[in-house]
Amino acid sequence: MIIIYTLTFFIIFLTYFLRKKQKKIKLDSNVTVLITGGCMGIGKQMCKLLAMKNCQIIVLDIRKDLADDLKKTIEEYGGRLQFYECDLSQQDQIIKTINQIQEPIHILINNAGVAKLQLFTEQSFENLQLTHAVNYFAPVLLTKLLIPKMEAQKFGHIVNIGSVLSIITGLKVVAYCASKHALLGFHNSLRVELKLKKSPVKCTFIAPWAINTGMFQGVKSKIDFLLPQLKEERVAIEIIDAIENQKDVHSIPSFYWLLSNLVRFLPHPIADFIVLKVQGPFIKEMIGRNQNY
Ligand SMILES: NC(=O)c1ccc[n+]([C@@H]2O[C@H](COP(=O)([O-])OP(=O)(O)OC[C@H]3O[C@@H](n4cnc5c(N)ncnc54)[C@H](O)[C@@H]3O)[C@@H](O)[C@H]2O)c1
Repeated sequence: MIIIYTLTFFIIFLTYFLRKKQKKIKLDSNVTVLITGGCMGIGKQMCKLLAMKNCQIIVLDIRKDLADDLKKTIEEYGGRLQFYECDLSQQDQIIKTINQIQEPIHILINNAGVAKLQLFTEQSFENLQLTHAVNYFAPVLLTKLLIPKMEAQKFGHIVNIGSVLSIITGLKVVAYCASKHALLGFHNSLRVELKLKKSPVKCTFIAPWAINTGMFQGVKSKIDFLLPQLKEERVAIEIIDAIENQKDVHSIPSFYWLLSNLVRFLPHPIADFIVLKVQGPFIKEMIGRNQNY
């Protein structure tokens, strides 16, 4: 117990003193934002907020059927949309799409994600690959393609939407959890390299708790009264605020970053016991969206 408390104070102390206030960026009509997975969920909510700030919005999404509705919504909020149908699990489609875009992209929001909620032994290898392709390799490839352009224009911001499952674990999330852990590892390593070469490109990692978009449909636990699902509108507002303030990392709610990291420090038998006790009884109800696009 003493060790945990000492560690808590040490982390709070470090976080406070090492936090460097970044210059605030202004999101307006001069800023072009490329967002993946903008057709639904928090992606769509972010599009609305960016439209209200008059940003130029470029969306890459597999759901072409939702593009007209998204365009209408964005225009109602005062913005303009360029939509590209793109299956982010296909690297050739990502490269082709980026090559089609003429204007400079200032902000990349790697938001699209999939979660196939199954036990590892029930999951096909194709599903595991798909999860990694969309949640991990697509953000990495988009970052690889856009960083040189951002550095040439002397401004750029890369936002990776991770999860608290980038830090801790749960049941039926083997592939999702591994892909989000990989995304955090990539993000942290990239951030240090960007600092090393004094790059004008900044990056923000977002780690939300479960959100009411349907991706984690049926997720329940014995501690839901303590940790209820977040509303997608609130998550989108906090992400846009984190971008404007160029935060290195932002978890939603903010104290979950510390909480999840402390949980990670617990000895495995205790951490596993907690997961099994709080989530185990609800495993059958946890179905998620589990839809093939
Ligand atoms: N919902 C949650 O509880 C939760 C919690 C933490 C983090 N997140 C993360 O937030 C992000 C958004 O989640 P959401 O809940 O809004 O999800 P969502 O399922 O509501 O929306 C995901 C979007 O990604 C798009 N997409 C999926 N596969 C694609 C593909 N192959 N190619 C192109 N587009 C594709 C979908 O069409 C959709 O527009 C994801 O990265 C997710 O992992 C979600």
